[in-house]
Amino acid sequence: MAEELTISTSKDKAERYETLIPQIEALVAGEKNLTANLANIAAALRFGMDFFWVGFYLVDEDELVLGPFQGPIACTRIARGKGVCGKAWAENKVLVVPDVDQFPGHIACSSASRSEIVLPAVKGDAVALMLDVDSDKLNDFDSIDERYLRQVMRIIESFI
Ligand code: SME
Repeated sequence: MAEELTISTSKDKAERYETLIPQIEALVAGEKNLTANLANIAAALRFGMDFFWVGFYLVDEDELVLGPFQGPIACTRIARGKGVCGKAWAENKVLVVPDVDQFPGHIACSSASRSEIVLPAVKGDAVALMLDVDSDKLNDFDSIDERYLRQVMRIIESFI
């Protein structure tokens, strides 16, 4: 495992993801511990992509429970169907929210959060956890983030 993350300073978001994703693969290679891997992925995404908040919510019976994250403190539990994370979980789909104030039922963990992307990881035929990324800028996530963060979810699905 590399001891230091190589961070691209490119203005091109796709290039930054291209630099980061192989490092994420290397970070988790040979390590089976879920907490350790999610913690390192959260840190790699936070510093590699300069995200405001990035973290995981893990499915625990009928709720999501906060897992490893980087950024300001966050809500610990989210009910199925509630907020962006709960809805993306219930519908097993990626949600991109350009303006959180326009999303009915958005759960504001931080008043600084303006836009958000949430993606599921599936184990067997059920969603096991969600990746949530928040930005303090409006409309900060697009199809490039979705494409590369989907790749991150496939990496996660390889060890959960
Ligand atoms: N905004 C999320 C809650 C989690 S925080 O953003 C970290 C939601 O509505 O599900």
